[in-house]
Amino acid sequence: MRIAFTLNGQPTTLDADPDMPLLWALRDLLRLTGTKYGCGIAQCGACTVHLDGFAARSCSLPVSAVEGSEVITIEGLSGTIAEAVQTAWREIDVPQCGYCQSGQIMSAVALLHDTPKPTDEDIDFGMHGNICRCATYVRIRQAIHNAAAKLGG
Ligand code: FES
Ligand code: FES
Repeated sequence: MRIAFTLNGQPTTLDADPDMPLLWALRDLLRLTGTKYGCGIAQCGACTVHLDGFAARSCSLPVSAVEGSEVITIEGLSGTIAEAVQTAWREIDVPQCGYCQSGQIMSAVALLHDTPKPTDEDIDFGMHGNICRCATYVRIRQAIHNAAAKLGG
């Protein structure tokens, strides 16, 4: 099946099995490997991308579902919120092994888009689907607060 969508701002067409998870299409067909495979069952957040501006689990989304939509991956993340988040992540060295971090950043940007000045509870709720086996949760929370402050939230 031919599937046309916008990927990181570029019109993109794929010839793929419509049931193929978007994650496989991104990684195996389009060679965008920043989005990670963790659990494959929408439980860990490692595969988070933005679909029409919302955080989505690409492991559990058939590629046919993105026909006509806009998909942003960590490679194409841009804008003031994204820059503030990435700067905050660097400033306090959030990652440990790094495996979960592209998903964490995608979710953090979506959270700050909807909630410019999140409380600890907002962050815990908004990020609860993103698992970090290195337990960097305290730094993630601080980085989101720092990014929000930089953005004037
Ligand atoms: S790999 Fe998609 S949520 Fe875990
Ligand atoms: S930094 Fe290692 S899994 Fe999150």
